[in-house]
Amino acid sequence: MKTEGGSDGAKRRAGDRAAEAVEDGFVVGLGTGSTAACAIRALGRAVDDGLEIRGIPTSFQARKLALEVGIPLTDLDAVDGVDVAIDGADQIVDAPDAPAHGALIKGGGGAHAREKLVDSAADRFVVVADPSKLTDRLDNPVPVEVLPDAHSVVADRIRELDGEPMLRNAERKDGPIVTDNGNLVLDCAFGAIDDPDGLAMQLSRLPGVVEHGLFVGLADMTYVGSEDGVDTRR
Ligand code: 5RP
Repeated sequence: MKTEGGSDGAKRRAGDRAAEAVEDGFVVGLGTGSTAACAIRALGRAVDDGLEIRGIPTSFQARKLALEVGIPLTDLDAVDGVDVAIDGADQIVDAPDAPAHGALIKGGGGAHAREKLVDSAADRFVVVADPSKLTDRLDNPVPVEVLPDAHSVVADRIRELDGEPMLRNAERKDGPIVTDNGNLVLDCAFGAIDDPDGLAMQLSRLPGVVEHGLFVGLADMTYVGSEDGVDTRR
């Protein structure tokens, strides 16, 4: 069965491979989205077989699934560190000679603030993906989580940066998407992003921005699942 942006088999293979690298006693960051969910399910099976880990979920969705599959949970305040975080991505620069190699866009599920917190706290941040996520240059809209009161002001600042902001699901009858943190998301189209690090710094500087979905220099490794195996990218 195909799902949007990649096959279930490819996602499952990537998730399974990432879960295999988790050792007894590890604290594991549990990412959000359908590919990270494959890793969470694989970890749940390993816990059933006796693996002792503690998970730190990056979203309500990840927390719910981790509880369903029996992964004991903890939080950042209760641990000395995070051994590994396993998370998905919406776009991944796969251009080994480019400075932006390994840069990501995340936040398709609006969970990028907690994802960045947990993923960047980890000794090793492993991305799990299918080939549809790989690109030479990031060009998806960048999700920007904003304080509700700040959304129009931040939207103006984004336009000054030559971006086109769109309030996520603004047209919904019951209002726009609200994140797990009670905030709103502006999806900001910048066209092809030549300098993700520079744009990341500009977005971080804007008052009212809680977090944006550009993850630059954070990923240590990517497992890309395919129909018949898993490729490793560093
Ligand atoms: C959620 C995310 C997800 O990791 C990203 O959207 C990828 O999801 P999927 O594996 O379902 O394609 O960043 O905020």
